[in-house]
Amino acid sequence: MLTTKKIGVLMGGHSSEREVSLRTAEAILKALREKGYEAVLIEADATVAERVRAEGIGVAFLAVHGKFGEDGCLQGLLEILGIPYTGSGVLASALGMDKIASRMLFLQAGLRVPPYRILTRGAVRPSHPFAYPVVVKPSREGSSVGVSIVRDPAALSAALDQAFTYDRRILVEQYIAGREIHVGILGDAALGAMEILPTGEFYDYRSKYEPGGSRHLFPAPLEPSLYARALETGLQAHRALGCRGYSRVDLLLDTAGQDYVLEVNTLPGMTDVSLLPEMARGRGIPFPDLVERILAEALREDTT
Ligand SMILES: Nc1ncnc2c1ncn2[C@@H]1O[C@H](COP(=O)(O)OP(=O)(O)O)[C@@H](O)[C@H]1O
Ligand SMILES: [Mg+2]
Repeated sequence: MLTTKKIGVLMGGHSSEREVSLRTAEAILKALREKGYEAVLIEADATVAERVRAEGIGVAFLAVHGKFGEDGCLQGLLEILGIPYTGSGVLASALGMDKIASRMLFLQAGLRVPPYRILTRGAVRPSHPFAYPVVVKPSREGSSVGVSIVRDPAALSAALDQAFTYDRRILVEQYIAGREIHVGILGDAALGAMEILPTGEFYDYRSKYEPGGSRHLFPAPLEPSLYARALETGLQAHRALGCRGYSRVDLLLDTAGQDYVLEVNTLPGMTDVSLLPEMARGRGIPFPDLVERILAEALREDTT
């Protein structure tokens, strides 16, 4: 046992990823209890500070995704309360949530990202220089919510309108034809790279969460040099944002073997059928051990 403090598994929130959060939280709670920790579920709503106090929580295990949970807000609140928490800190969380801000750091670190343009709600919509298909996505969402692959210029305007319903800044970017590779990071090392084969057009919300929506190959069947480079790129992206504890980095590998960073997920899904737990299992780390390793990273910074 790493701690005798009561662990609050923080879940829910207002984001469109609430459903996923609840499943992640249940899985984490079960794993912590199995390992002998005292743990309870706590709804991360406007009363979270009072609840955390009332329950006498000493450590927070974050099972929230998206807005307010993954974007640094909850992390800031926990900093104020003096409660250690799992995953990245305030700044790295905010950067990871923001595809526009994070890309600047990826580029600065010498990583490749799909060529893109930024559009702002209400401003004139400049034409973009990309050949079709293009991809349209909100800057701060997740789970492919608001993401469209636009194959026909006539469909662009509707895709932009849709993305703008989620954020005031959105990206239009070059579609990268190739393979979808996700790199799991645990501690300060790459756990491995997984190839995702969505059954639909791309890795959309349905293929992410519905059974049979995608196939996962772990380890990704890449030639050894490409595999090693994917791990290195994933780790560099994690470090470029200053992430802590764990993350999952989404990459695209084009047909010429060049890898592009899409994003770093600072609080990746942790249901026992999620990708990071699947990678851990493939590396001989059962789910409860993975949960405990993530907890250990949070306690490492705890000097109280
Ligand atoms: N530039 C691109 N080229 C091809 N497919 C893309 C591109 N950008 C995103 N996608 C597809 O959309 C999915 C979601 O995009 P991503 O940028 O990871 O946003 P989210 O935060 O919603 O997961 C990706 O996993 C991939 O399948
Ligand atoms: Mg993604």
